[in-house]
Amino acid sequence: METAVKMQAAAQAQPNIALVKYWGKRDIGLNLPAVGSLSITLDTLWTKTRVSFAPAYDVDRFQLNDRENPDQLKRVSAFLDTLREVAGITHRARIESENNFPTGAGLASSASGFAALVVAASDALDLNLGKADLSRFARLGSGSAARSIFGGFVEMNTGELPDGSDAVAKPLLDAEAWPLQVVVGLTSFDAKPVGSTDGMLRTARTSPFYPAWVSSSADDLQTARRAVLDHDFDQLAVVSEHSCLKMHALAMSAQPGIVYWNAATVAGIETIREMRHSGVPVFFTVDAGPQIKAVCLPEAGPAVADALAEVSGVSQVVCTGLGGGAHIIGEQS
Ligand code: PMV
Repeated sequence: METAVKMQAAAQAQPNIALVKYWGKRDIGLNLPAVGSLSITLDTLWTKTRVSFAPAYDVDRFQLNDRENPDQLKRVSAFLDTLREVAGITHRARIESENNFPTGAGLASSASGFAALVVAASDALDLNLGKADLSRFARLGSGSAARSIFGGFVEMNTGELPDGSDAVAKPLLDAEAWPLQVVVGLTSFDAKPVGSTDGMLRTARTSPFYPAWVSSSADDLQTARRAVLDHDFDQLAVVSEHSCLKMHALAMSAQPGIVYWNAATVAGIETIREMRHSGVPVFFTVDAGPQIKAVCLPEAGPAVADALAEVSGVSQVVCTGLGGGAHIIGEQS
């Protein structure tokens, strides 16, 4: 076994943005979500990751954007242990990862990061995993990473089995079938104050609203799924903004309360709401960070980008379409 595998591979994955949000875990060890979610995978933001395993390596090493990253090494190493166990090897690895966007700032870098890592590492180890298994392994690294295995519109299930084998993402609609645009307004490059896992655990433990969040999420998911399949932008806008505001209200209601927004996030939300009320096909969403994400029909893209660029505190605007799922790339890509 050890001599037959090719031992190195490289993969690319794009972050995804949840329109129906995941917040809360039904099992911490297996990283199983307490609620289902629905997301769109982006195309111009990416993580590229190269993994090589070798008997000569005595420890795992992880570089992000050409710098050793001791903070994330433990998490990456524990994640690779799961794949090493499946492959039946103990070789350590070199992991070189590159993000073309800010890391840990609410732009879903853990989603693209773990999706790229599982695709590269499983290929290097010749594990021959299908997409559902890739999604299941990616979930162990980060819940939202399970969705970045697929492109376009993606749905993530809570699953029902105790071992979590059915808690995987599945594709709902191809990117090309409904080519929405996303305009991201960057309001801060700082790492978020509370990581999503800590935030979720604190919320579940202390928010009086948590049971209502969990019990109301299936309806949101069903409404959003229907809206995507019907290409019903207005319905998708209503349910997406509702899910976003509900998730943030929930996090704020934890003790101590978690506030991911800054003044520019709120100003951006106001701007997008005003545009939509004046008939522009656009809605907002915000993840566990201060960046404002506007989702719109393609014809509204330039006006939305101009409007977000004008918002006080928005330092940069990034426009992207919807993209494909995680995939193997050539070593030099
Ligand atoms: O996958 P995690 O642990 O980074 O959590 C993601 C949480 C949100 O981005 C806020 C919502 C989501 O569904 O992506």
